[in-house]
Amino acid sequence: MGQDAFMEPFSSTVGVFRCKLYLLLLGFCSGLKVAVPSHTIHGIRGQALYLPVHYGFHTRASDIQIIWLFERPHTMPKYLLGSVNKSVVPDLEYQHKFTMMPPNASLLINPLQFTDEGNYIVKVNIQGNGTFSASQKIQVTVDDLVTKPVVQTQPTSGAVEYVGNITLTCLVERGTRLVYQWLKDGRPVHTSSTNSFSPQNNTFHIAPVTKEDIGNYSCLVKNSISEMESDIIVPTIYYGPYGLQVNSDKGLKVGEVFTVDIGEAILFDCSADSYPPNTYSWIQRTDNTTYVIKHGPRLEVVSENIAQKTTDYMCCAYNNVTGKRDETHFTVIITSVVIKQKLDRRPETEYRKAQTFSGHEDALDDFGIYEFVAFPDASGVPRMPSRSVPASDCVSGQDLHSTIYEVIHHIPAQQDYPE
Ligand SMILES: *[C@@H]1O[C@H](CO)[C@@H](O)[C@H](O)[C@H]1NC(C)=O
Ligand SMILES: *[C@@H]1O[C@H](CO)[C@@H](O)[C@H](O)[C@H]1NC(C)=O
Ligand SMILES: *[C@@H]1O[C@H](CO)[C@@H](O)[C@H](O)[C@H]1NC(C)=O
Ligand SMILES: *[C@@H]1O[C@H](CO)[C@@H](O)[C@H](O)[C@H]1NC(C)=O
Ligand SMILES: *[C@@H]1O[C@H](CO)[C@@H](O)[C@H](O)[C@H]1NC(C)=O
Ligand SMILES: *[C@@H]1O[C@H](CO)[C@@H](O)[C@H](O)[C@H]1NC(C)=O
Ligand SMILES: *[C@@H]1O[C@H](CO)[C@@H](O)[C@H](O)[C@H]1NC(C)=O
Ligand SMILES: *[C@@H]1O[C@H](CO)[C@@H](O)[C@H](O)[C@H]1NC(C)=O
Repeated sequence: MGQDAFMEPFSSTVGVFRCKLYLLLLGFCSGLKVAVPSHTIHGIRGQALYLPVHYGFHTRASDIQIIWLFERPHTMPKYLLGSVNKSVVPDLEYQHKFTMMPPNASLLINPLQFTDEGNYIVKVNIQGNGTFSASQKIQVTVDDLVTKPVVQTQPTSGAVEYVGNITLTCLVERGTRLVYQWLKDGRPVHTSSTNSFSPQNNTFHIAPVTKEDIGNYSCLVKNSISEMESDIIVPTIYYGPYGLQVNSDKGLKVGEVFTVDIGEAILFDCSADSYPPNTYSWIQRTDNTTYVIKHGPRLEVVSENIAQKTTDYMCCAYNNVTGKRDETHFTVIITSVVIKQKLDRRPETEYRKAQTFSGHEDALDDFGIYEFVAFPDASGVPRMPSRSVPASDCVSGQDLHSTIYEVIHHIPAQQDYPE
């Protein structure tokens, strides 16, 4: 071991001079410095742990003495081993566990056990022109590596929105001093009015669940030496139907009214967000009766087959797990191309005018749409659902209320009027 090996600031003459003059007398600046890269070292049980120590001095040394002590809270410090020059004197009780190669003061602990956790004190004494000594303390913790956690979901069958609760439990086979954290879509989950955690955070509870709780959940487990994340869990949450809509590939849609050319086949698509997928049914009203014409998300209406020019339909979406349903009404008007073109080409201002004139003879010449007025259901007879419709289909007993008059009424309100 070379002198001044690690002591750059002490190697200057000025430094030495000052030291000798003022500080040596105080026993403070001995010209010996002992340094450790880290005052806390996290070790893995069963593996070797190396406690690095550097020291340096600038005086002429005859003897270099290194001593290692171990202390735990509320116990006497224990002597582990010591050396003078290159000869080591271990405590025979620990001689197989601790290794030092003087003048290198670093200590090797092998294998590391939980009982090895505590403070390790290294003291270096230099015998030269006087005796100098310095020491350092290293805190050692001992842990087991974390194994990959597994998340269990309760109930496994899933939960219905606003009714059911879900509990996620993070299970870890091995690992000590574990800190649990829950992630949703990679971001930490926080406590909220519906989210709660067990005291250790190894259990995460959502009560009640909502659609917003759907996501990719994982459990992150850490300790000072390792961290592991579980596989992604996507809890099953039943919800909906939401946002029921009827759309069509063809035809002109204004509000709930589709205008279709004679001879055109038109495909209607009913959709609503839900889990599990909704069952859809289509209901048609003719005269005073309603009846289910089709099950499934699509309905094709071939206009030739329609006896009357205006038909009211309803699409019903039913979620057979949440037990919730929704329905939307719409009217299909079969019209001639000529009339439709007239409709298409009118600027919005003229429809406003048309609304004003509706019901008056003056409008008849101007507006083909007047033809529709001939089809309102103005009978005033309340419409009752037919008994032929099974209960599982969405029949609410509510009137299928859409008249031709409403067509005109809707037009001016339509902002993004399609070409
Ligand atoms: C240690 O080494 C120094 C220098 O090599 C020597 O003078 C001294 O006697 C040695 N001390 C012991 C106890 O062997
Ligand atoms: C002490 O020994 C360790 C391992 O044997 C080595 O990595 C380290 O560099 C040595 N330290 C010094 C100051 O020589
Ligand atoms: C040892 O110390 C004495 C007085 O403290 C001093 O006179 C002498 O020069 C020192 N020797 C060395 C080698 O530093
Ligand atoms: C869900 O949790 C709430 C509050 O903890 C409780 O009142 C309710 O009974 C739970 N529901 C189910 C289905 O377990
Ligand atoms: C959830 O995970 C799936 C598959 O790993 C991925 O496709 C999806 O985008 C993730 N969702 C979010 C919200 O991160
Ligand atoms: C549990 O998690 C919450 C929020 O993520 C955090 O504030 C708290 O410190 C954690 N508690 C424990 C014991 O880890
Ligand atoms: C519920 O609806 C789904 C389709 O969305 C279907 O596969 C399932 O059999 C239905 N369950 C019951 C009990 O009707
Ligand atoms: C419609 O049904 C109601 C009640 O069932 C009945 O009173 C009424 O006469 C019916 N109207 C027509 C036009 O069939």
